[in-house]
Amino acid sequence: AIAAPRALYAPARDNSGGFDVSDICALQRLDDAARTLPTYEHAGRAEQTVYSPADIRQRVGSFAWDSTASMQDKLARAQRAFARKDWLAPARAAFLLRLADALEAEQAHWIDLCAREAGKTLLDGLAEVREAADFCRYYAAQIQRLPPGRPHGVVLCISPWNFPLAIFIGQITAALAAGNAVLAKPAEQTSLMALHALKLMQTCGLPPDRVQCVIAPGADAGRVLVPDCRIQAVLFTGSNRTARWLFRTLAQRTDAPIPLVAETGGQNALIADSTALAEQLVDDVIRSGFHSAGQRCSALRVLFLQADTADRVIELIKGAMDELKLGSPQELATDVGPLIDEPARQRLHAHCQRLDKEARLLHVAKSAPTHSQGYFFAPRLYEIQHMKQLPEEVFGPIVHVIRYAADELPAVVEQINAAGFGLTLGIHTRIQRCADYLAAAIKVGNVYVNRDMVGAVVGVQPFGGRGLSGTGPKAGGPLYVPNLRRHDSGAGRQ
Ligand code: NAD
Ligand code: ALA
Repeated sequence: AIAAPRALYAPARDNSGGFDVSDICALQRLDDAARTLPTYEHAGRAEQTVYSPADIRQRVGSFAWDSTASMQDKLARAQRAFARKDWLAPARAAFLLRLADALEAEQAHWIDLCAREAGKTLLDGLAEVREAADFCRYYAAQIQRLPPGRPHGVVLCISPWNFPLAIFIGQITAALAAGNAVLAKPAEQTSLMALHALKLMQTCGLPPDRVQCVIAPGADAGRVLVPDCRIQAVLFTGSNRTARWLFRTLAQRTDAPIPLVAETGGQNALIADSTALAEQLVDDVIRSGFHSAGQRCSALRVLFLQADTADRVIELIKGAMDELKLGSPQELATDVGPLIDEPARQRLHAHCQRLDKEARLLHVAKSAPTHSQGYFFAPRLYEIQHMKQLPEEVFGPIVHVIRYAADELPAVVEQINAAGFGLTLGIHTRIQRCADYLAAAIKVGNVYVNRDMVGAVVGVQPFGGRGLSGTGPKAGGPLYVPNLRRHDSGAGRQ
């Protein structure tokens, strides 16, 4: 039997991403204290200084890059740790539960670091901690249901900056739950958070060397690690471009094919017909499109509005955009923080310059205060004619409206499917037949009806895409951990 104090998994978050009064009070205290919190220094050559994307004058900490030799050394250590085969299922489950508790105990620290290193608002930071803890507890519970088989070996976990704690922890804990060792490659923009999370894992009883963390630019780490046959599975969350590179590079290896889970971006649509409740729709558009500065793979990008009610809904969205507060993520009142870095802002500016010629700018939200020295970008609402005008994912707070006539719904479906992405879909309607038809006809991983379309809850809404958006199995779902084991003739449970 596994010594798990909580045999049943219960998510720390509710389905609406809501927060209660005690959360808000705790965040308010953090809001006041955050200004005096320390910087995060990591021993070593400390050749890289981190400045906050919310204020480029604010030093957050420093870290050292891994050389090719140290990446290879870490891979060798992880492989030796795996070979010891002495970390059995009950101990792994107990570790994951301790880690969940430790993350929650340090909640204020993580929210602060999320704000300063990744520019996440306090509420987004709180959601990060909860999702990370949820992954630990959900995958701990999965250990009790492991089918016969054996772990793959060393799993390379490559994670993005936009969920620097939740996805970093989620990938690692799944791989560990299945009995593997891990070589983690966090996004370079959020290296401090990854290094601190590794330290926390060590204090929770992680066996020596079982998880190694490589701090390096993506292309450098990929070139050294992905062709190496000691990597026996890859968990990747990030851009479509990197996913394609990983597929190509792994295909060139001469050993047997290994599992690659690639979770990528989307061109996510929300379809609202004229029966939709306008106030609820507007609230959900604002949360799905503009909160988190639109830097979620699940975020709303294309809003299809039935023509009869479109003008009214657009007016309401414009009003709600005027209420958005851009500014420091360390202030509780802030709705929209900064983008992650200057290249991200340049990409959005280039996109807007193109749309300014071929589309209609409907509205721009208020900018961040003029004294702000971060990578802020005011949310924008455009009207376009067709999704073909959006050949790539637009990763920021920009929503594109397309009007459709009531009899054009099949053409809307065709348009969305033809784009090839398939991550999230929102539907706002009070006609059950319409919701059923759209949910069945549009090929996406996650469908949300009459609510927002971000913030999937671990174990409740397994998350992942289809087509250009991902390979599956879905993260936070029952197939994710079993996929990280071999189901050949290898004996027993490990
Ligand atoms: P990215 O692909 O540039 O980077 C993601 C990670 O891959 C980083 O750790 C990076 O260092 C690493 N990387 C880059 N090139 C590499 C290479 N050649 N070899 C190995 N590793 C490499 O993506 P990004 O722009 O930093 O992240 C945002 C993207 O992630 C968006 O497209 C977003 O939609 C997507 N995303 C998807 C999900 C999901 O669950 N589907 C969740 C969050 C983010
Ligand atoms: N799981 C994240 C969300 O649902 C990406 O927004």
